[in-house]
Amino acid sequence: PDELPVIEKDVIVIGAGIAGLFTAIKASERHSVLMITKKSLMDSNTRYAQGGIAAVISDEDSPALHRQDTLIAGAGLCSHEAVNVLVHEGPEGVRELVRMGAQFDQENGGFALTKEGAHSQRRILHANGDATGFEIVRALSEKALANPNIEVWDDHFAIDLITDDGECHGALVQKPDGSRLIVRGKATVLCTGGTGQLYRYTTNPEVATGDGIAMAYRAGAEIRDMEFVQFHPTALCYPGAPRFLISEAVRGEGAVLRNIGGERFMSRYHPQLELAPRDIVARAIVSEIERTKSTFVYIDITHEPADLVRRRFPTIYEYCLQYGLDLTSDWIPVAPAAHYMMGGVKTDLYGETNIRRLFACGECSSTGVHGANRLASNSLSEAIVFGRRIVERIGQLGSLAGMPKFESGEPRTQPSTQAAIEKRLKLQKIMLRCSGLRRDANGLNKGLLELKRQLPIFQTVLTKREEYEFANLLTCALLTTQAALAREESRGAHYREDFPERDDLLWRKHIVLHRERGIY
Ligand code: SIN
Repeated sequence: PDELPVIEKDVIVIGAGIAGLFTAIKASERHSVLMITKKSLMDSNTRYAQGGIAAVISDEDSPALHRQDTLIAGAGLCSHEAVNVLVHEGPEGVRELVRMGAQFDQENGGFALTKEGAHSQRRILHANGDATGFEIVRALSEKALANPNIEVWDDHFAIDLITDDGECHGALVQKPDGSRLIVRGKATVLCTGGTGQLYRYTTNPEVATGDGIAMAYRAGAEIRDMEFVQFHPTALCYPGAPRFLISEAVRGEGAVLRNIGGERFMSRYHPQLELAPRDIVARAIVSEIERTKSTFVYIDITHEPADLVRRRFPTIYEYCLQYGLDLTSDWIPVAPAAHYMMGGVKTDLYGETNIRRLFACGECSSTGVHGANRLASNSLSEAIVFGRRIVERIGQLGSLAGMPKFESGEPRTQPSTQAAIEKRLKLQKIMLRCSGLRRDANGLNKGLLELKRQLPIFQTVLTKREEYEFANLLTCALLTTQAALAREESRGAHYREDFPERDDLLWRKHIVLHRERGIY
């Protein structure tokens, strides 16, 4: 087989959401950086983040309160050390984001702060009302593109990690023309985001296919907490419209939920009403949908002044208007949709995995911050806090020795893009039916069987992005379903109808999946 070309940089960053951009910019202060993204810098989950970024800013707030809210939402499975890192280092991370050019909304001479579900304080910064992620990606992309120490490769797909003797050397990458090369660095940082595309209904863009988690699993990384999939309670549910996010901040600013009979129902489910933890609101909505034989409930903010609603939520307002729905005067039909993967590649407090020189940051990582259920708006903060720590650790790494032999001898043939897209749809339907918001052993076992029928994909020669993505989704689907079957209790975002109680005696522990060691 032909030798593949090798490109060397100090740091290889795979993925271009907030985790990738922030880590690349920080790392570029002392290192040469290559950023690889399978589409472009504007295609990531971060770009769609509305509500904002949680950090202790207000004098009425404290790290202890932020810690307490995060631990309660995490339902007994957060790492206390990781949460301490988040709540103490979050404010400095936000100041750094501002120094990098991100502009957050201001009020009375300081940052404007909003509230979201299960937060005891106003601590969510936002930008242009409800376009927080877009502003962050705009500012950081500009900064990264202008930086001579960062090279950005759009439309390049990282196929697999290259490891040798428990150490990561870089990755095998496919170029837009289909040819391949090796990128090599003393540190490789996975910033590839989550797995929203596992489900038929998701707030995530089509790029959220769990590539980093699947790649890390194949390379021998420990994968943790994959059963914990967060469904956002309120995504637009309207014929012909995608499941567009209707931010929790809309409820934070006073919106209420009504069933199709117009009844405000949350008092039957939780004392915090519409601002109860996400999993509770999401399951309450599903119960109301079933009880009323509908497909949606309504979110209603029509009692707030119209100009305030338009100013505070311009993106949501404009989006709904495209479908003839006016947020200021109409009740908006919503239903839950897959939103965030709490699990991912297990890391230490400096973002390093069990494979030396391999780091994970952002949604693809499992730092221990989120436990069984993420507190709204903690994810953007997690990415910057741990991104800074990863760069600190990279600064201590020596250079790489040798290069493992790597051959690419695969002939190129096979399946069409069409087939991969159809397969994705089928997988999404299986996951929604068997491994969704409410689970039981029967459904999970059926789901596993159906998913396993797709396993021959791993014997097939893959060439197209959609095919690799499907294979990665299949790996993540199997990891999620196996972990969900193993956890015989209900906790946080994981709800088993056959084990509806939380079981602290047996299950106050994590499920880890490893390619060779199995599930433990
Ligand atoms: C939202 O705006 O509701 C999303 C915030 C989050 O998922 O953290």
